[in-house]
Amino acid sequence: MGCVNIVFKERSMAVIENEGKIVKVEDGDKIITACNQLGVPFGCKGGACGVCEIEIEEGAENLSYITEEEEMMGVKPPFRLACMCKILKGTVKIKF
Ligand code: FES
Repeated sequence: MGCVNIVFKERSMAVIENEGKIVKVEDGDKIITACNQLGVPFGCKGGACGVCEIEIEEGAENLSYITEEEEMMGVKPPFRLACMCKILKGTVKIKF
């Protein structure tokens, strides 16, 4: 009888930072909760109102690609909608 090893890879933590305050999230998670904790205002939470627009000061390459909703809202780098992006890894510094 064969033996199968299953390895659960632990996800590491990424960081959202604003004015020295940091909130950790798991790699690949949406940043909405972290941004909420940092004080970013939210409205629709669905990419339709633009209230949650944040400026990415550092680490834009650590975020998921711009979404259709962000394109529809005319959001362009260095800005993103906090309710739409995911952080892939590392640190992302935001301003709002
Ligand atoms: S909360 Fe409305 S676009 Fe993000």
